[in-house]
Amino acid sequence: MDTVLSGIRSTGNLHLGNYFGAVRNFVKMQSDNNCYFFIADYHSLTTYPTPENLHNNVKMVLAEYLASGLDPEKSAIFVQSDVPEIPEFYLLLAMNAYVGELERTTTFKDKIRTQPENVNAGLLTYPVLMAADILIHNADKVPVGKDQEQNLEMARKFARRFNHMYKVEYFKDPEPYNFGEDLVKVPGLDGTGKMGKTAGNGLYLIDDDATIRKKVMRAVTDTGPTEPNSPVAEPIRNLFTIMELVSTPDTLLFFKEKYSDCTIRYGDLKKQLAEDIVRFIKPIRERITDIISDEDYLRKVARLGAEKARTSASKTLKDVRQIIGFRTF
Ligand code: TRP
Repeated sequence: MDTVLSGIRSTGNLHLGNYFGAVRNFVKMQSDNNCYFFIADYHSLTTYPTPENLHNNVKMVLAEYLASGLDPEKSAIFVQSDVPEIPEFYLLLAMNAYVGELERTTTFKDKIRTQPENVNAGLLTYPVLMAADILIHNADKVPVGKDQEQNLEMARKFARRFNHMYKVEYFKDPEPYNFGEDLVKVPGLDGTGKMGKTAGNGLYLIDDDATIRKKVMRAVTDTGPTEPNSPVAEPIRNLFTIMELVSTPDTLLFFKEKYSDCTIRYGDLKKQLAEDIVRFIKPIRERITDIISDEDYLRKVARLGAEKARTSASKTLKDVRQIIGFRTF
């Protein structure tokens, strides 16, 4: 059984792109892997959320993942800041991370460019904290997007460096994991590219029915096919891609045929698509609302998750302290 670990950013709500791109795959992986999913709230301090926002964001993200099917019985679902072993391990790893290599990471260089007024040390050591997250559970597989691959590479480097320095084979190389066939890229509603956070482009799991309908009806289309059997132009292809995920195969076929013989009416396509998205999102949204208002349940989930994470983390930390040479009198 592999140990799978993923850190979840605690900023921003989940959209369908996150859901089909990652969350749905996390849900599937839970049955045959030893999974750790945690909310990276320490990492979010690099951008100074207010105390209210910090807590509310963590709560929201936790509720969204639970509502999407992460199961606290099957997996360890926890909040990073509930595991004090992580910052201690981070301190130990930081002693073997070189300032030069940290300065050269692309995520850090991006931050220098985008927020030159706030280049804090937490940004510089971001990959060290991330390595602590990963190595403290000796994870085999880490599902990460393109933007986090270099940070994962640093974790591998720190693991090898530790092993080499203390002449041990303690840490495994955590492998990047991409979902292969199951990796679905959900297009946005603005006609080009991926679903993302730009306004109007994303459909969120917390969107209400009216919002979903409004967004879909406003989705970018074109003037329509003029020749029978012509290839589907990008904005419409994008709508078909979303349809593939939320509608029945019959519905998809119906509209594809209408496109092929040039009788398609985009208004009808959008209406159908909006209803299918509503039907898909509504139960998830309702679960999010229920979970958010159930403080007892959230507390139970967080406690259980922290307990599981700390069991694994404290064992690693104890071994690491021993290997480094700390001895109790
Ligand atoms: N940095 C990751 C992101 O921005 C979140 C994260 C923190 C993470 N610790 C991690 C991801 C450990 C994977 C493993 O998305």
